[in-house]
Amino acid sequence: MPEHQREAATAKQPGRAEDPHIRELRILNAIAEALNSSPDVQQALERTLGLVADLLGLRTGWVWLRDAETGQFYNAAARNLPPYLQAPVRMTGHQCWCIEEFNEGALTPKNIDVLECSRLRPAVQRQATDLTHGLAYHASVPLYFQDKPLGILNVTGPSWRRLTDEELHLLSTIAYQVGIAIERARLADESAQLARAEERARLAREIHDTLAQGLTAIALHLEGALHHLTAQPERARQRLQRALLTTRESLEDARRSVLDLRASPLTGKPLLTAVRALSRKFTSETGIRVRVRGEATRPLPMRVEAELYRIAQEALVNVRRHAEATDVEIVLQQTPRRVRLSVRDKGHGFDPRAVSAERHGLVGMRERAKLLGGTLRVTSRRRPPSGTTVVATVPVAERER
Ligand SMILES: Nc1ncnc2c1ncn2[C@@H]1O[C@H](COP(=O)(O)OP(=O)(O)OP(=O)(O)O)[C@@H](O)[C@H]1O
Ligand SMILES: [Mg+2]
Repeated sequence: MPEHQREAATAKQPGRAEDPHIRELRILNAIAEALNSSPDVQQALERTLGLVADLLGLRTGWVWLRDAETGQFYNAAARNLPPYLQAPVRMTGHQCWCIEEFNEGALTPKNIDVLECSRLRPAVQRQATDLTHGLAYHASVPLYFQDKPLGILNVTGPSWRRLTDEELHLLSTIAYQVGIAIERARLADESAQLARAEERARLAREIHDTLAQGLTAIALHLEGALHHLTAQPERARQRLQRALLTTRESLEDARRSVLDLRASPLTGKPLLTAVRALSRKFTSETGIRVRVRGEATRPLPMRVEAELYRIAQEALVNVRRHAEATDVEIVLQQTPRRVRLSVRDKGHGFDPRAVSAERHGLVGMRERAKLLGGTLRVTSRRRPPSGTTVVATVPVAERER
């Protein structure tokens, strides 16, 4: 007896001692376990197909899943395919009767159909049983999550027989569980992708606010040095020295970020102290006066301090690059539930609605505030010039304080 027939025969004879209902429950339980425990959808589906074989004696099976983006079907798992279907070209997602029925909505969880298999048909017509192993029909069990179509589970056996209502009911119970498992795997995938995207956005901000800023400052110093090179070599030398200093600091920044991407830019100082230090450095480099006001309040959560510091830093870089201002005022205020940082310059202002999509500074500041559950408001006007005010307001939860 060929192996596939022998296995089917044993599968049809349940262990004599076991009550069939208990056996059903045991197998259903094993299916639930397989679907729950395996992180890999293909493995879980293959194991499920194996258990369906144990339960109903339908030892061949395969699963089509619909790619949610393209609508294309792909073979997500298969078990004991007859040689004819093992040729990879026959199991690609091209149209076939069960996929057509599914797409037309003719297969529903309550309406499991037994179909002639259009993929096997040419070999069945040639009576090539060595290639078909006697298979010609399959039961097609649609897979849904709620009313979202996910795919089809096909099962079959060599000595095809009508499935009883009870068996069909069992198959729809299994399909229901499979649907949940597939959706869960998809959600896990999606959330991993989201986490990766968030991480990329965070790295982009980090690079913009550290390395890119450093390089901008270095370029400005070098430009200044070039400008003064012949007429005022001493000034040129000073600018070169500053460029060197900024290069070293940026390198230090980059090293810190590489060593620990979460490294706090405050290097252990409280926010207000760190902002004061940042402002002093800013004034010494640009000649723009900065007045910092604020109460030395309770320490804030590290993340809040780090993000607000970066916001202040980028706001200052923008003042230096765009505002042509002579004075800046930074205010840090804390209420029991909120912390508010504002950076105000008296420069020439701009139209916040007309910022090009290629600019990243304001977007990054807004994202930083949003990550903390807060907001960022930019007020600026070009005519009459009213300067620019950037205000980040961030909630501080009771337990975080
Ligand atoms: N304080 C300011 N004064 C005047 N204009 C400003 C000020 N801040 C921002 N802007 C304007 O808003 C635009 C967007 O700022 P944003 O920080 O997003 O980009 P950027 O500084 O031009 O480039 P980068 O992406 O390197 O930060 C700037 O190009 C500038 O025109
Ligand atoms: Mg900027």
